[in-house]
Amino acid sequence: MSRDLLLVVLHAILLSLLEIKVGCVGTNVTKTDEQRLLDALMTGYSKDTRPVYNASHPVKVSLGITLTQIFDVDEKNQVLTTNVWLDQEWKDEKLTWDTGEYNGLEMMRIPCRKLWLPDIVLYNSASDHNEKYMDALAMVSHDGTVFWPPIVKFRSSCLMDMTYFPFDDQMCKLKLGSWAYTGYQVDILNRSNTVDLSRFVENGEWELVKTAAVRNNVFYTCCVEPFPDVTITLHIRRRTIYYMYNVIIPSIMLSSLALLGFWINPDSGEKVTLGLTVLLALSVFMLLIAENTPATSFFIPLLGVYLITTMSFTSLSVICSVVVTNLHIRGYAHPVPNWLRSVLFVVSTALCVKPHHLKKNMWLNKASYWNRIPQSSTFGNHSATNGRVVHDLGEETGIPHDEVHQEGAAPCDRLLKDDNSQANHALLETLKCLMNKHEDDEREKNIHDEWKEVAMVIDRFLFVVFLLGMIGASLYILVALPLQKLRKIENP
Ligand SMILES: *[C@@H]1O[C@H](CO)[C@@H](O)[C@H](O)[C@H]1NC(C)=O
Repeated sequence: MSRDLLLVVLHAILLSLLEIKVGCVGTNVTKTDEQRLLDALMTGYSKDTRPVYNASHPVKVSLGITLTQIFDVDEKNQVLTTNVWLDQEWKDEKLTWDTGEYNGLEMMRIPCRKLWLPDIVLYNSASDHNEKYMDALAMVSHDGTVFWPPIVKFRSSCLMDMTYFPFDDQMCKLKLGSWAYTGYQVDILNRSNTVDLSRFVENGEWELVKTAAVRNNVFYTCCVEPFPDVTITLHIRRRTIYYMYNVIIPSIMLSSLALLGFWINPDSGEKVTLGLTVLLALSVFMLLIAENTPATSFFIPLLGVYLITTMSFTSLSVICSVVVTNLHIRGYAHPVPNWLRSVLFVVSTALCVKPHHLKKNMWLNKASYWNRIPQSSTFGNHSATNGRVVHDLGEETGIPHDEVHQEGAAPCDRLLKDDNSQANHALLETLKCLMNKHEDDEREKNIHDEWKEVAMVIDRFLFVVFLLGMIGASLYILVALPLQKLRKIENP
């Protein structure tokens, strides 16, 4: 039984061997030109050894890239992802043939896995190094020239300087070279001084400004031989429109809202609330920026600086609003000190604000009008006394004589007309007392009004100061600094 089985198996093996033999003979007859050529080229070919007959000759690999896309710029991990065609060209001395023998066949596509390939790697790669190149066909010319352009997605590490974010430019390098062969074995040359951009698809976030390809010869500590490489520099610039619309313009609007707080009447009680709301909104933008920038302390992004400046202006305005509201509401018992009065006059004339109370109430700072009347003895000679007092006041305050007369003296004139009777004198005393009281109230109210006006003038003044400060800071941070950076990049 087992012998039968063995026989059957042997028979099958014999048959298949015979079939293979017949097949070989059969294809010899029906071989295509390309088949014949491939067979001829591959007999005695070793893909593990360099394709030069004289070992002291290097294989010259010319390297270049066709950039098809900037796929991603990852600022957080400092990785640039690009899609490129890695163009490699070298001469394989074993892959030559006489075109006449193969019906004029000049070019032949051969699967790259059958051929010797240079071990070109991206030195600053950020991806796992077990990735293989795409299994593309290599174009082999009859003189032995091999052209092999696999499509590669490079993830290269690139130190990104975010100082000028979102007005930043990044210089990312792709360093390509043979990993193990020295320059004496595989020489790397660059195909051109730039990157081929004929197939480039624009990126929405980044603009490709310039490209350059430079061949370097580097000596490492391991070996005495040079290791040549081709370093490709991609100069990319961030498109700022997105940040303009989403961050900068809204934050400018918000900060101008904070400025409006200076125009709110402290009585409404919304002065501080507005500032705080703006502050909160700005901190939302801060979070947005923080998400986009790498968490390093190497640099503070320009946009962050701008937001911080805006936030500090806003918080300062909140503090000022509190002070102004305090001045407005409490209205100190003391009159406005003279130095503050004169400072405020200067400020208010500079700001074209007309304070009504401040000027009118100037005389209230002096000794009271009514307190002087008993000192000036009898009421009989009232007209003269009145005239003198009025005259004195006019001199003391520098207010025109008529003005004081009209406002201060008019009610008194009527009172003093009936001073002949003794009974009236008591009434007059009471009246005088009442008038004094009334005047005290008036005086208090006037002091209060004065302080309100002080608050108003300070508010206007702060508005102008903050407006100028904001405009200055915005222009400096959002215009002057980016321009300075541009100049620095253009003339390094
Ligand atoms: C190999 O190349 C070297 C350097 O070009 C040359 O000196 C040497 O003669 C060559 N050897 C042969 C066998 O051609």
